[in-house]
Amino acid sequence: MSIASDILKSSETLFSNPDALDPDFVPKLLPHREGQQQYIALAIKPLFQDRNGKNLLIRGASGIGKTAATKRVLYDLEEVEESENVPVVFVNCWTQNTTFKILSNIAHSLGFKFTHNMNTSEILEKVKEILKKRKGAVLTFDEVDKADDYDFLYLLSEEISKKTILLITNDFSFGEDLDPRVKSRLLPELVEFPEYSLQETEDILRERIKYAFYQNVWEDAAVKKIAEQSFKFKDIRIGIVLLKVAGELAENAASKKIKAEHAEKAIAKTDAIKIKASTDLTDEERLVLDLCKIHAGKIFGEFYEEYQRSGGKKSDRTVKRLLDKLENRKLIKQEAVTEGLQGRSSKIIYIGFEKKIN
Ligand SMILES: Nc1ncnc2c1ncn2[C@@H]1O[C@H](COP(=O)(O)OP(=O)(O)OP(=O)(O)O)[C@@H](O)[C@H]1O
Ligand SMILES: [Mg+2]
Repeated sequence: MSIASDILKSSETLFSNPDALDPDFVPKLLPHREGQQQYIALAIKPLFQDRNGKNLLIRGASGIGKTAATKRVLYDLEEVEESENVPVVFVNCWTQNTTFKILSNIAHSLGFKFTHNMNTSEILEKVKEILKKRKGAVLTFDEVDKADDYDFLYLLSEEISKKTILLITNDFSFGEDLDPRVKSRLLPELVEFPEYSLQETEDILRERIKYAFYQNVWEDAAVKKIAEQSFKFKDIRIGIVLLKVAGELAENAASKKIKAEHAEKAIAKTDAIKIKASTDLTDEERLVLDLCKIHAGKIFGEFYEEYQRSGGKKSDRTVKRLLDKLENRKLIKQEAVTEGLQGRSSKIIYIGFEKKIN
């Protein structure tokens, strides 16, 4: 029998439900986020009693359950009596990054699809008209810091009378440059998502194992190793990817258990920094990163000219900020150089996702 047919024939698997390890999977229970979920639910509750809801700014570092906990509350809400009178809208401002796109998206989620020939204020009127027939709405803006403009926040806070606006961000400076008119209308309460401890990280991964794997296939030491790595990077996403990779490695080795050696191999094979960075770049950051690859070795002034030549529209200050962000993520390095009369500048060194750098 050939190797291929041997492998393809083997139907044994350690995974009971591999979908539970997908990035978008929202578990029924989110250990250690009960308080935050309660807070979000309480902000929405007044809408069911014909009162105005509260607005929240949901803030915390990347990969610690902000999106998942919020979605859990919103999904659970759909089960509640009368929920059809309180529609829920969820917009990701990374992909829907302008007021026009965001309002169109809201109209679409509310069931009105014919926005293509309408302008922003016409769409807003339509949204108002739809919501007038309801008790109120929950308007959620995930990755809100990635939006190019915030007119939509002003318009919605001004024009929609009964709503809860949920703003989710991992940018701790978000809000500093918001127009005072927007701030004074929104007055969001802050819901902090603190980082998980090592024990909490382990609890969360053990809970996820219950969803995704058959019982008793994980050895204790393997779970602990993965929890430690996930904790080191302060990101549950990394732990979940490692659960999947270690499971696959054990399965490929025809092991009935996932052991410490599989966890170690998964950790060695999986570049955690890469996982973290790849889930977290905007289109503009990606463009700048691609240009860094092509123009590695250039100093900043030359690089900025290339950026403009390739159609980039942002100011040199903004591009410098983007480079700093990429450097923080260890995707590039900026090396200080002295450039004749121009004084100090920095040379761009490309690292990228390809190389492992931990
Ligand atoms: N308490 C928890 N229980 C179960 N799963 C969790 C918990 N916290 C985080 N996760 C899982 O970790 C992953 C990352 O969480 P999530 O997407 O909510 O991060 P985030 O805080 O929104 O990060 P970002 O700012 O990068 O968007 C998801 O797969 C999520 O299901
Ligand atoms: Mg998120």
